[in-house]
Amino acid sequence: MDKLVVEGRHPLSGSIPIDGSKNTALPLMAASVLGDGTMTIKNVPNLRDVTTFAHVLRVAGARVQFDPAAHQLTIDAANITYPEAPYELVRKMRASFYMLGALIGRRGHARVSMPGGCSWGPRPVDLHLNGLKAFGAEIDLEQGYVVARAPGGRLSGGSFEMTPSSVGATINLLLAAVTAEGGCRIENAAREPDVVVFGEALEKMGAKIEGLGTQTIEIEGTARLYPVEFTNASDRIELGTFMIAAAIAGAPGEPIRLTNAEPEYLGEAFIDAFRQTGAHVEIGDDYVEVAAPETLQPVDITTDVYPGFPTDLQAQWTVLLTQADGRGRITDTVYSDRFKHIAELKRMNAYAMVQDDTATVRGGRSLKGAQVMSTDLRASVSLVLAGLVAEGETHVLRVYHLDRGYEDLEGKLTDAGARIHRETYDEELGEPEELKEA
Ligand code: UD1
Repeated sequence: MDKLVVEGRHPLSGSIPIDGSKNTALPLMAASVLGDGTMTIKNVPNLRDVTTFAHVLRVAGARVQFDPAAHQLTIDAANITYPEAPYELVRKMRASFYMLGALIGRRGHARVSMPGGCSWGPRPVDLHLNGLKAFGAEIDLEQGYVVARAPGGRLSGGSFEMTPSSVGATINLLLAAVTAEGGCRIENAAREPDVVVFGEALEKMGAKIEGLGTQTIEIEGTARLYPVEFTNASDRIELGTFMIAAAIAGAPGEPIRLTNAEPEYLGEAFIDAFRQTGAHVEIGDDYVEVAAPETLQPVDITTDVYPGFPTDLQAQWTVLLTQADGRGRITDTVYSDRFKHIAELKRMNAYAMVQDDTATVRGGRSLKGAQVMSTDLRASVSLVLAGLVAEGETHVLRVYHLDRGYEDLEGKLTDAGARIHRETYDEELGEPEELKEA
């Protein structure tokens, strides 16, 4: 297995390019199933989740080619002959569950494995299933598989209000609804940029959608969608991660430039909190410049749906708080259990406490290198960030989590002045845990 070895306290400088968004690329790949021909998606990151989804598409009958150097994906979905997503793939990556909506949209029926829980909680799919039912699907659970059918081949249409607002359920419902016989309405829909950009791709394919980016989305079904060429969004979570890296590990006052970015997708809450730390931020159309302050101020954050503070950046924020001058709090209202990184950070001399859905971190302590590991993607990257500022060497085990969501993390950090490299090691304690979604 691979691990990353980080030698701490080599300041970052220069510029770091941001790759395409993982969480937008995956629904775009699912959307390709709806087009009867070859779809081209540009700015696709070279990540394990993308490779896994390519596999999911191939199982259904699509021909998929990925050029990782060009970041370009071509998906020929002329023949979707096998409307299934097997357990082996869905358990590796929950986003495979998007095939449920995509296959109903394309074929009128689907058999997709139910995803399990994940390392930070149960993560139900009730909203996906109830929404599809509200739009006219018949749904059964057979041997761990969701078997869904649109009577007559197309969904009749309907209205569904989701509580809470769910990114995944909004995407699945859009995929199924765009080819419905009648109209569909989603209330309290997710407004995350991932949903909006994906919805724009559906529109380009011929879907009729009103209200993207608002809480009410209305879809007028159309019989056919067409494959198109589409450019994926830049990854807002990767951008936020490197902004935090720059604030804690950059030389004070010396700006680090993050390029190929789409800063408008970060959301106000993150940018406001980030500015309050004292870090200097300059936001351009396609770049962000961050200069670390002499002293970071602790800033409390509460995660929320967009444009709230993203739950996918709270583990990284925890590390920022360890470097701040005082005590800060993180409350995760989206996933109240998402604090697995805290125990590992404590092994690096962080002072942090978790109570219910809130972590309290006392900053100003010097982090110390250690062997650490975690069970999900964002927690893993937070440990790499901690390694950048820790004294001595940090060994971040089970890098396969990182490879799911950060393209060439060590290469980008090395180019920016960090000392970090990959090594293989033997994991003596048996098989790795299941590869979990983040
Ligand atoms: C997506 C992101 C993930 C991010 C999360 C929240 C992808 C591939 N993953 O996950 O990185 O952390 O959004 O921004 O894009 N819920 C239900 N029932 C459901 C579905 C969700 O109760 O049927 C709840 C969840 O438990 C959670 C909340 O809704 O509390 C939001 O989850 P959701 O937006 O669905 O997250 P994902 O789409 O799985």
